[in-house]
Amino acid sequence: MSDKAWGGRFEEELDTIAARFSASVDVDGRLWPQDIDGSIAHVRMLAEQEILSADDAKQIVAGLETIRVSIERGEFDWDEAKEDVHMNIEAALTSAIGDAGGRLHTGRSRNDQVATDMRLWTRQACGSVVTDIDAVLEVLADKADGHLEFLMPGYTHLQRAQPVRLSHHLLAWAEMLERDRGRLADAARRMNESPLGSAALAGTTFPINRDATAQALGFDRPMRNSIDAVSSRDFLLEAVSALAICSVHLSRVAEELVLWSSQEFGFVQMSDAFTTGSSIMPQKKNPDMPELVRGKTGRVVGSLVNLLVMLKGLPLAYNRDLQEDKEPVFEAFDTVHDCLAVLGGAIASATFDKARMADALQAGFLGATEVADWLASRGVPFRDAHHVAGKLVQQAVHESKTLSELPLEAYKAAHDAFDDTIFLALDMETAVERRDVVGGPARERVAAAIAELRGRLQARRSA
Ligand code: ARG
Repeated sequence: MSDKAWGGRFEEELDTIAARFSASVDVDGRLWPQDIDGSIAHVRMLAEQEILSADDAKQIVAGLETIRVSIERGEFDWDEAKEDVHMNIEAALTSAIGDAGGRLHTGRSRNDQVATDMRLWTRQACGSVVTDIDAVLEVLADKADGHLEFLMPGYTHLQRAQPVRLSHHLLAWAEMLERDRGRLADAARRMNESPLGSAALAGTTFPINRDATAQALGFDRPMRNSIDAVSSRDFLLEAVSALAICSVHLSRVAEELVLWSSQEFGFVQMSDAFTTGSSIMPQKKNPDMPELVRGKTGRVVGSLVNLLVMLKGLPLAYNRDLQEDKEPVFEAFDTVHDCLAVLGGAIASATFDKARMADALQAGFLGATEVADWLASRGVPFRDAHHVAGKLVQQAVHESKTLSELPLEAYKAAHDAFDDTIFLALDMETAVERRDVVGGPARERVAAAIAELRGRLQARRSA
């Protein structure tokens, strides 16, 4: 290397503010494991292709392994003046092993290097969020299993609508997360192609073997086009979109926990381990963890917007703007990882209140649909049946009664088809059990859904 950081072409050092502005090692330093793996794959291939001597390659690999250990031990001397993770590691290598270190970068550019590092990093990060999601799914399966007897109102417009099982509602959360998992796994599959060997943008004159490096790094194949390989970041857009959707889902779940733990609902008690008190109001037990999960959604959605805007209008191939991809990606993954852990813990340790849910079922005229269905199943057109049931609700409201408390005469007065079996239909357990359809809340359907979820989790664990 010349005495100037950027080699022979430069006479002046980079301005101090420009150096600080463009340095990224505080953020991309985190890519060191991928950077070292990528370099080792590259240098082994160079030796196999006889572009480098076996001896140089051996020294480089040994040097990189030593650097790996020193970083792991926290002994590595990161230097902002060396700009980014790639230059820090390469400079340390050269100062450790001399000339051979300077040969590592043969047939490669930081453009394909950073694209490779990011694909490797994001691939593993998708895998670990997938595992995080499975852990929450386990919690939901357990909670659903343990609460099959708990009936609660299902809501539309946040108004009590129809009775369901708590387990059914918990499994609705599981479905959302299951799709999030699928989207991440999908994104990880599609990104699994190797940019390495595309060099700055046009490949290299050295007789490299891109299949070999792709294989060594666990990629399915080399990317087809060298310009695309160094310019494209849609693999990050896909992953972060999946995370943004996931964080919106987590926020909706969190919102329900906040609502349900209010005194107004009282459906759930969060454990002390996942709630906090107030500095002024001694009676308070606040659901801060779900609130923070809800609040952190903005970061993840923001990361997606950040990436989309950063990419829009960038000409091919590499532009330095692309360096800005890392912070939003890291932030999105870190945030979703934490949110999944916190929400999983909050749900696992929460206690549901069967009596409060049952009370809410009684007070909300949830049997109104049963009344309408009862008439409709005896040949009354559903629209008329709906009207009659509405009138009965009105009467119950006026008389401050529940639908079951209205006397049979009231029903008969509303429609002469009624007989006393209407009171059986108004039983909430019966109402839920009669919803014995695919995807419905009847006990057997919910039990089967739990078993299916457990089966999927089991299959993934042993895969
Ligand atoms: N730190 C840079 C980034 O993250 C590495 C690539 C630099 N390439 C370049 N041509 N300046 O994008």
